[in-house]
Amino acid sequence: MPKISNRAAQMPASPIRKLVPFADQAKARGTKIYHLNIGQPDIHTPQVGLDALKHLDLKVLEYSPSDGLLSLRKKFCGYYSHFGIEVAPENMVVTTGGSEALQFAFSACLNPGDEIIMTEPTYANYISFAIAAGVTVRSIRTKIEDGFALPAIDEFEALINDRTKAILICNPNNPTGYLYTDEEMYRIRDIVKKHDLFLISDEVYREFRYTGKPYLSAMNLEGIEQNVVLIDSVSKRYSECGIRIGAIVTKNTEVRASAMRYAQARLSPPLLGQIVAEASMDAPESYMKENYDEYVSRRNLLIEGLNKIPGVYSPMPNGAFYTIARLPIDDSDKFCEWLLKEFSYEGETVMFAPASGFYTHPEHGKNEVRMAYVLKKEDLSRALVVLAKALEQYPGRTE
Ligand SMILES: Cc1ncc(COP(=O)(O)O)c(C=O)c1O
Repeated sequence: MPKISNRAAQMPASPIRKLVPFADQAKARGTKIYHLNIGQPDIHTPQVGLDALKHLDLKVLEYSPSDGLLSLRKKFCGYYSHFGIEVAPENMVVTTGGSEALQFAFSACLNPGDEIIMTEPTYANYISFAIAAGVTVRSIRTKIEDGFALPAIDEFEALINDRTKAILICNPNNPTGYLYTDEEMYRIRDIVKKHDLFLISDEVYREFRYTGKPYLSAMNLEGIEQNVVLIDSVSKRYSECGIRIGAIVTKNTEVRASAMRYAQARLSPPLLGQIVAEASMDAPESYMKENYDEYVSRRNLLIEGLNKIPGVYSPMPNGAFYTIARLPIDDSDKFCEWLLKEFSYEGETVMFAPASGFYTHPEHGKNEVRMAYVLKKEDLSRALVVLAKALEQYPGRTE
């Protein structure tokens, strides 16, 4: 039998999705599961987006241009200008989710054998996309004790060599919820500039910042305009993960032209998704504000509740809708599996993503799990009760 490629053999299973078969079995047994494992919000998609789909009047659902509908790209540019990001439709390519934008960015900026630096714990799919592109990940560990703040510049410099081609940041961060300070962004800018690297900046959680301060996008860092490649997505900000619309945005014309060639090879981003995304950008301020307030109160409820459970610690995240919590357990993979296979409390259990999958060295996440506060407060409260009971009973408890 022919063998699959080495790259394919190295592709890790998603820590967010790998426990799904156990969850399905638990559901088949009648157990209710609180899904805190995945960033799938229960928030409604804006009505203007849903209406656009309902009132569609097309006779042919045709391909769209490879870089996306011009009207949508113009809408994106208008949206960005609210954040002081001044770009033109020619600076972007609409993609099949931020996921495809990341794949285009890896392929356009890095050769196989090149190295990319990122902090970890990291969004696990970055590791997968790097493997798919033949790129080596060099990671800098951020620590729960420091609230996952950016480590000293020396740690970046120590990793930079002839093969280093890019730094990847995720701000606000998935999985930690960390939001970079302006000072940290300037530190990143300085290294990028000094070593003339690409800065791939994943800003899909831009709307979810809880400090009240204006957002400093990598696109607005002076002196590295040609180095920055922005990754964006409507999935989270309009709660429309299923329409699969994102974007790669850059002022670097070579990178943009290269992304366009990849885009042409896959023909077109989803047409229906583009129509919904374009309409969603007209969602009223009240929609954004209501959801923002909802996430703030969910965050406060979850983090305060976690820190009340004996042996559990979570920093207070300033962005996105995730946190990494430290639990008094021997092994987060075993614990998360046990929650689904062996445990239930009053017919219910909880599902988390074991943090091991967010590190290049899985042992670093052994006593950590990632939680997404994407469920309504009533469900989060109940999930906290179920977690506390589970920790009382878990045979691998460490304290
Ligand atoms: C940090 C980050 N980037 C990119 C994505 C990709 O999202 P999508 O492909 O739905 O746009 C996600 C999804 O969870 C994410 O968390």
